Amino acid sequence: PIKLGVMASGNGSNFEVVAQAIANGQINAKIQVLIYNNPKAKAAVRAENHGVKSVLLNHRDFKTRADLDRQIVQTLRQHDVDFVIMAGWMRLVTQELIDAFPDRIINIHPSLLPSFKGVRAVEQALAAGVKITGCTVHLVCLAVDSGPILMQAAVPILPDDTVETLHARIQVQEHRILPLAIANIGNG
Ligand code: GAR
Repeated sequence: PIKLGVMASGNGSNFEVVAQAIANGQINAKIQVLIYNNPKAKAAVRAENHGVKSVLLNHRDFKTRADLDRQIVQTLRQHDVDFVIMAGWMRLVTQELIDAFPDRIINIHPSLLPSFKGVRAVEQALAAGVKITGCTVHLVCLAVDSGPILMQAAVPILPDDTVETLHARIQVQEHRILPLAIANIGNG
């Protein structure tokens, strides 16, 4: 089994589906540790429910992004992680993290990249008036939301959509393609 480290900042529904896919045998992996940066992240509660160790690294306790990332790398190494999943990780990453896990970090993003990089991607898509958006699983590199694309799913934008209704439908697709992408990695 591949040894995963998951990083999350908030609700953790993507963490949840990965943990479930492992429990039901869809992914041949083990989650060694969840790292979260926001003390209120519900992801930590989900980790506890799945018997997964979680470590809070509050970005407010670090002077620079590189300092935070050095601590993240140390924590991932301590837990013998060989692959990193960013499941709603809302901090910009630095070279420190990328160099420690080259081509071994994947991210889920709520748009069809390369459209709508960065924060509030769902809001950006609505504001742009596009008729189709979606989600993307990609390898992480230094330029934000720009690494090689592994998997995507399309989601139509409906006339009455709000950020909330659209994000909810995008998440249905995220919860399908993130476990699939990790399963593919597990199969080589
Ligand atoms: C997901 O929609 C993910 O694509 C997005 O945050 C949400 C986290 O949901 N990530 C980004 O916007 C990264 N820039 P979750 O906490 O329920 O998994």
